[in-house]
Amino acid sequence: MKESCIIFGGAGFIGSHIAEDLLKNGIKVTVFDKLNASKRNVEHILDEIEFIEGDFNNEVDISKALKGKTYAVHLVSSTVPATSNQNTFYDVESNLISSLHLFEKCVEYKIKRLVFISSGGTVYGNPVKLPINEKHPTEPTSSYGIIKLTIEKYLYLYSVLRGLDYKILRFANPFGERQNPFLTQGLIAHLLYKIKNGETLEVWGDGKVVRDYFYIKDGARSVFRAIKDNTSNRIYNISSSKGLSINQILERFRKVLNLDFDVKYLPGRKFDVKANILDNKLAAKHLKWTPEYNFNEGLINTWRFFLDNE
Ligand SMILES: NC(=O)c1ccc[n+]([C@@H]2O[C@H](COP(=O)([O-])OP(=O)(O)OC[C@H]3O[C@@H](n4cnc5c(N)ncnc54)[C@H](O)[C@@H]3O)[C@@H](O)[C@H]2O)c1
Repeated sequence: MKESCIIFGGAGFIGSHIAEDLLKNGIKVTVFDKLNASKRNVEHILDEIEFIEGDFNNEVDISKALKGKTYAVHLVSSTVPATSNQNTFYDVESNLISSLHLFEKCVEYKIKRLVFISSGGTVYGNPVKLPINEKHPTEPTSSYGIIKLTIEKYLYLYSVLRGLDYKILRFANPFGERQNPFLTQGLIAHLLYKIKNGETLEVWGDGKVVRDYFYIKDGARSVFRAIKDNTSNRIYNISSSKGLSINQILERFRKVLNLDFDVKYLPGRKFDVKANILDNKLAAKHLKWTPEYNFNEGLINTWRFFLDNE
């Protein structure tokens, strides 16, 4: 019988790419997303997947959807780093408690493996050393990062106490087609959207903040590798292992995409760490995963998508 995988939050940016990739790898895919969630991101594969509408904060919905699946991927989040500190209670209630319900059900239904997409951009906090490997200290400076790390710790607890099998993928900064330009998390999508609409770009700080950007189709591939990874290793950085500042990205927009735009610099934000570059050697070693696309290739594909769709 074909193996199956349910993707919680699968109609979002990252989930839609994971769904495509798992289908290519012969996995039967179920996407679980909010009631009345837009199906736009998965429209092109709707007749190949099962789509379940439900609320991740409702354990009955989780339970019904999960039963009988081989694997699960957890992508639901009600906050992003910029908003999470505004209501920490909400962050805990909506993201942590529901994740624990999911773990309970994964144990009950003997799910073969749960893959959790964590955040390599926030769980480590300000880097002591670059590039950051998986053993680097974790001192998140946002509630969002604290919750991701706490979910990771509970996964470990569930594996020890209840035998839950899991893998954690700490994503750096994915970018690509279908990223929401209106969320503060997708810098490249946000800037390209503004350029397309002839708006001035607003940059927090002096533009020297460095991040590790990787193309989402590479990120999606890492999930199938994690599902099939039978090493004892649990946590992987998924990244390009290369840093780019915002100013360098703007330069790529000009040179690679031939774009012209104005930039306004705003005061920096407290929760933004200065630099984040993740070491992806462990993923290369155990998952046999390295990025196949370079930054410029990903950027060209993303811009093409913006021209055609947004
Ligand atoms: N985008 C990034 O830069 C990035 C980096 C690292 C980690 N992550 C994490 O990866 C995950 C997915 O990110 P994304 O960029 O695809 O976000 P996204 O907002 O595009 O997708 C999340 C999906 O979850 C769904 N969802 C939210 N609340 C729900 C609920 N209560 N019930 C059912 N579905 C619900 C949304 O409708 C959405 O389709 C998130 O957990 C995010 O924190 C994202």
